[in-house]
Amino acid sequence: MAILSSVLTAFALAASANSALVRVNDFGANPTNLQMNINVPSRPAANPAIILALHPCGGSGEGYAQQTRYNSLADQKGFITIFPSTKKDMNCWEVNTSKGLSRDAGGDNQGLANMVRYTLRQYSGDATRVFVTGTSSGCMMTNVMMATYPDLFAAATCYSGVAAGCLAGSPGASPGSADPACANGQRIKSVEAWGQQARAMYPGYNGSYPRMATWHGTADSLVTYPNFGEQLKQWSGLLGVTFTRNQTNTPQNGYTKVIYGDGTKLVGYSAQGVGHVVPTHEQDDMAWFGL
Ligand SMILES: *[C@@H]1O[C@H](CO)[C@@H](O)[C@H](O)[C@H]1NC(C)=O
Ligand SMILES: *[C@@H]1O[C@H](CO)[C@@H](O)[C@H](O)[C@H]1NC(C)=O
Ligand SMILES: *[C@@H]1O[C@H](CO)[C@@H](O)[C@H](O)[C@H]1NC(C)=O
Repeated sequence: MAILSSVLTAFALAASANSALVRVNDFGANPTNLQMNINVPSRPAANPAIILALHPCGGSGEGYAQQTRYNSLADQKGFITIFPSTKKDMNCWEVNTSKGLSRDAGGDNQGLANMVRYTLRQYSGDATRVFVTGTSSGCMMTNVMMATYPDLFAAATCYSGVAAGCLAGSPGASPGSADPACANGQRIKSVEAWGQQARAMYPGYNGSYPRMATWHGTADSLVTYPNFGEQLKQWSGLLGVTFTRNQTNTPQNGYTKVIYGDGTKLVGYSAQGVGHVVPTHEQDDMAWFGL
């Protein structure tokens, strides 16, 4: 717990004030009682892009909206951001259960997908520009949303998480309740095995998977660094790209951009000496999303 609260304190220091969120109550099936909070900028684009932004363990949608700069960017760019909250298991997302790792089967992921579908309908959103991002547990859920709802999202970015299915069968999904093998970097699998596990979360799907940019610190002691490489393995198989080259000191000193294929479908950012969690890089997220 001490580790978690110091993580959250450090994260909150990066806070920036921004506009208030609105609670939405009736957005469709919500089997795990999630809260939907939405930020619609004062001048939304005609067919706005949508970002689903997922908080870390111990966090909330309101907190993540304040700790990140997505809402001030939305004022410039006109996209809508959904900042949901989960209140269970130390506010960690459900990335361990079989229902939570399946499509429309009653997990957190189903409620999150319905928030996106509602926002698309309600605001005439652009279905080709729906994105997902998140930090820590929110990054774990980003990987799960990509595997279970690949048709909803065009692209994803996330910070300091794990591959989809890494916590499958774990007794919980919080630092206090989870099987530590995943966070400790002991769930090492082949490209094929990670790909099969993700494909089994939405059997029969034959479309493409979202583009992915994942960030991780080499000094992460809570969700250790091997989970960076395991995510890259999972998405390299599903996106059909292999490692091409590294670009050092990108986007800043000490970060290495790890490029797969031509760099348009999959990249990783390895942050030398950075712990849990890598600070959100909202401008880079905008560039990755094409916003
Ligand atoms: C997953 O974690 C939750 C707590 O978030 C727990 O209630 C549940 O039993 C776990 N599921 C499995 C399959 O172990
Ligand atoms: C791909 O999946 C869709 C929807 O399930 C289905 O209609 C289509 O026939 C599938 N295409 C191929 C080539 O399997
Ligand atoms: C590319 O960068 C990553 C992260 O720093 C490193 O693990 C990997 O060994 C590098 N690969 C090459 C070929 O330099």
